[in-house]
Order: sequence, then structure tokens, then C-alpha cells
Amino acid sequence: MKKVPHSGEAVLMELPAKPSFVRNFLVKILVFCVFIFCFRFAYVVTIRGESCDVGDFCFFSMPESFNFAGTTTIAAVSSAAVVSTEAVSDDRKNILYTSKNWRKSVQYYSSVFQDLIAEGFLSPESKSLCVDTPLGQEVLALKELGISDAVGVAKTAAKPLVVAMKNSGRRQPFENNTFDFVFYGGGGRIDSLSKFEEIAVEIGRTLKPEGYLVIHSRTNDTYSLHSLIALFNCCTFIKSREIQGYIGDDNNVDDGSSVMIREVVMKKEEFGSIVYSGGSKECSVVPGYKQEIVRKAEVLIQVEPLKPWITLKKNIQNVKYLPSMVDISFKSRYIYVDVGARSYGSSIGSWFKKQYPKQNKTFEVYAIEADKSFHKEYEAKKKWVNLLPYAAWVKNESLFFEVNHDPGDDPEEKGSKGRGMGRIKPVQSHDGVSSGVDEIVGFDFAEWLKATVTERDFVVMKMDVEGTEFDLIPRLFETGAICLIDEIFLECHYNRWQRCCPGERSAKYEKTYDQCLDLFTSLRERGVLVHQWW
Ligand SMILES: *[C@@H]1O[C@H](CO)[C@@H](O)[C@H](O)[C@H]1NC(C)=O
Ligand SMILES: *[C@@H]1O[C@H](CO)[C@@H](O)[C@H](O)[C@H]1NC(C)=O
Ligand SMILES: *[C@@H]1O[C@H](CO)[C@@H](O)[C@H](O)[C@H]1NC(C)=O
Ligand SMILES: *[C@@H]1O[C@H](CO)[C@@H](O)[C@H](O)[C@H]1NC(C)=O
Repeated sequence: MKKVPHSGEAVLMELPAKPSFVRNFLVKILVFCVFIFCFRFAYVVTIRGESCDVGDFCFFSMPESFNFAGTTTIAAVSSAAVVSTEAVSDDRKNILYTSKNWRKSVQYYSSVFQDLIAEGFLSPESKSLCVDTPLGQEVLALKELGISDAVGVAKTAAKPLVVAMKNSGRRQPFENNTFDFVFYGGGGRIDSLSKFEEIAVEIGRTLKPEGYLVIHSRTNDTYSLHSLIALFNCCTFIKSREIQGYIGDDNNVDDGSSVMIREVVMKKEEFGSIVYSGGSKECSVVPGYKQEIVRKAEVLIQVEPLKPWITLKKNIQNVKYLPSMVDISFKSRYIYVDVGARSYGSSIGSWFKKQYPKQNKTFEVYAIEADKSFHKEYEAKKKWVNLLPYAAWVKNESLFFEVNHDPGDDPEEKGSKGRGMGRIKPVQSHDGVSSGVDEIVGFDFAEWLKATVTERDFVVMKMDVEGTEFDLIPRLFETGAICLIDEIFLECHYNRWQRCCPGERSAKYEKTYDQCLDLFTSLRERGVLVHQWW
């Protein structure tokens, strides 16, 4: 019936429109009140088996808008309520609110909150928020325990318990430092969210300093627990424990089986936020969760292999990849750095893309390769590979590298992977700029890493740098950048036995197998999951 008024009519239309607007408004409020009343009526009668004659006991404490109705309206509603109960009872929410699952769920959260009250994390005066609660069972549980100042927030509103997020689900509609207590429950729904970091920032914003944050997650390994905590730079970790999860939630995907939930309690810092970065003091102490991972890793090959071209290649089958041991969900970004990437097919395309277990995450890929002959093919892969056409080094400086064109040097290992003979190796003197020596740009790899990734990112690295690992790895230790790396695949270059010539060692490298073993061992002692790359 709506029609667009001509511009001249617009003013005139306003006056006669008013009474009908007021009437519409009153009717809307009436209907709303009827709904609330019926809902509460049905709820009390069905679940509690109580009658509803105690006046305002029957109503939730409603938001301010309820006052508009005025006393007469409420009186009118009361008499109309019983009559229209049936009409509204088909409403989806009504069915939900009175369902057995709904009630069970509220009871579950009620017991969770009672424990938190007993431990002093929550009190009746706590202004409380439940995040990502589509239906609001958590909120009702809080209210029933006497924590009246409680509200839920979710993508879409479920009035009166839950309000909607703003900015397409990104922003909580609350001021900074609003809540004393924030709860993230949902039977561990958190684990299925990809962009949890955003949610973590919002929680950190609306939680008051000294306020408590409680999270229910399905994380059950210490690595992912640590990643989860690290996402909240607002807060310090207080405690965590395992509890029985709630079964049979209407939006719980795997009902039926028993679920263990990890309950994590954190507290917001009074001043500012905690800054996580590599190179900090905590980096020198190897945390327990990293030691645990290293203990579970495949053993290092202790004795120098007589046929390294077979033994080391085969070893890749024993590798225990980090994502096959722990949950990597609670990371901010996922990054693969290939240092000495060579051709696209040599490791990024053939191994990382196809074989590395990624838990369905999208990785950013950095290929570091100074050899110009490989650069062209990365043009076509620009979309997912960032090429750094430089040499990873211990500082920013131009380097003179000897390009090794000698075809006699272990042809069988590298020959199949592109221009295999063109590996580069540093020479100390700058004098002999002749054929066979190229000038290339070296950059401070450790500094670059610290500027590019954070402790919250998942970083996996492959390093095959023709002996430069003996410079780069110590530099990573020295700068603390080593703590930013979750997993390393390292080819260590030593004077290995040659396939071509039995009884002869490669003259290309000076280091011995034992020195390599020391390098691997030192990495593992620092809690770095390093694997022997072939
Ligand atoms: C709220 O906090 C955010 C960061 O958490 C800050 O950027 C913003 O300026 C704050 N807003 C107000 C009004 O203080
Ligand atoms: C974590 O849970 C998964 C599946 O529920 C299970 O396979 C795995 O063994 C658990 N890990 C630990 C460390 O308890
Ligand atoms: C992986 O992600 C895709 C889309 O992002 C999704 O459809 C698929 O179900 C996911 N698989 C697993 C095993 O999580
Ligand atoms: C090295 O070069 C990078 C990139 O140009 C620059 O950001 C960085 O500050 C330089 N580092 C040093 C120590 O000069």
C-alpha cells in the first residue's frame, strides 16, 4: 500500500500520518508483550510446573524499551494472554525455549557458572557477557543464578537474551571496558571458527581491566592451548581444567559421544596489553609444550649414513609433522618460508603443496632464492608465492657468490631438479669478480623474519642453503627469531660420502656429519621441531 509521495505532498502527509503511527506502535508493543507473556507462561508451566500468578516474577527483566508500554497495556496483555497462547505456540523459539535440550543446556551452564562463582571469578554483581551464543542458554543460566546484568551477543539477535553483533558480525555493540566477566562457551564451538583472532580482539576490548574471561574449547594438546592463550594479548592466563562437555545441544554437531571441554580462565591486565614477540626474554626458556613436541618427534639419525642419498631421502617417511601431532587452529596466520627455494617444483610444488599436512589452512608462501635462473617461473605463481629474489644472510650486504657450474659434483641428487649445478656459495674475498662469480643481494634473514611474522603465526620453514645454515641458524638463536619458527626442515651440508665415487667424500663442504648432528641437536634442545631434510 505504500506509495512514494510527491515532494509537495510530503509535508502534508506527515500530519494525518501521526495517529496511525502511534496506533501501529501500540499494537506492536501489545503483540510483543503478548509474545513475552506467552513465552514465559509456557516456560514456567511446562518446565517448572509452577503457576504464574506472582506478577512480575513471570517476566524477565526487560530492556528499557519495555517501559513504553505503560501500565494499561500490560493489564490488557494479561487478559489476552491465555486466549492467544495457542496462536503463538507454533513459534520456533517457543518450541526451542521449552524443549528438553534447551533446559538441559541451561542447567549445564548453570553448573559451570556455579563452579566459577565458588572460585571467585564471577559474582552476582558481575556485569556479564556471553559471546557467540545464538540462543542464549548461557545468559539465562546467569540470570537464574542471580547475575541479573547479563547479556549475550551473536551474529543474529535472539531477544530478549541475545543482541546482534555489528559490522557484519565483527563488532560487539558495547563500549570499551564494559564487562567484569566474559564467557565463551558453546560446547567448544570456538574450534570451528577460522577468524578467532578478531573475536579475541573484541573480547579484549569490551572486558574491563581485572575482569575475567572464561573460554570453553575442545583443544586438548598443550600446543594449541598455548596458541589460544597467545591470541588474547589483553589477558594473562590464570588456569585451565578439563570438564565434561554438554551433550545434546541443538547446535552441537556431534551429539551422542561424550565431549571433553577445556575450560580456560584468563584475566585482563590492568595496564596495557602483553606484547608477544620473538627475541624476548621468555624465548631463552624453552616452554614445556615445545619440549613435549620435540620428545614426540622422530629420532635424529645418530650415525653418519654410508649412503646418504638413500638414507636421508627415506627419512622423510619417518618425519612426524607438527600438524599431525597438534591442533594448529588457534593461529593468526599460516606461513611457509622456503629458504633456498630453487625451482617451484623442487620443494614448494612437489612437497609443501602436496604432502605437508595443513589442517585445511591456507598458507602464505615465501620463496627465498637468489639464483636468477629460477625467478622466471615464479612470475606465474605470484598469486600464492611471494618471491624474495635475494640470498638469506646474516646482514644486509652485497655478496659475491661463486656459482658452481662443475657438473662432476654429486649429479644424481640435484640433477633432476632444474638447473641443479647452479648452486651458489659464499666466497670470502671480493677480488675475483670474474666469470663464475656473481654479485647478489644478501639480506638479514633473522630481522626479516621478526618483521614479517609474530609468535601468533604458524611458521614452517625449509632451509637448503648450501652450507650457509652454519651462519644463519646461530644468527636465528642470537636474535631470538628462532622462537618464531614452529617447524624446520633443514638440509645440513657436510662432506658426505659420494655416490659416484665409493670411499670419497664430497670436497664441496668442510663440515662433518657430527657438526650437522650438533646443529640439529641444538635446535631440538631449544624446543625447535627440526627434521633432517634430504
Ligand atoms: C577502544 O579500544 C580500542 C582498542 O582496544 C581503541 O582503539 C579505541 O580507541 C577505544 N575507544 C575508546 C572510545 O576509548
Ligand atoms: C585429542 O582429541 C583427539 C580427538 O578427540 C584425540 O584423537 C587425541 O588423541 C587427543 N589428544 C590428546 C593429547 O589427548
Ligand atoms: C576444509 O575447508 C573447506 C572450505 O573452506 C570445507 O568445505 C571443508 O569441509 C574443510 N575440510 C575439513 C576436513 O575441515
Ligand atoms: C635491511 O634491509 C631491509 C629492507 O630494505 C630493511 O628494512 C632493514 O632495516 C635493513 N636492516 C638493517 C640492519 O639495515
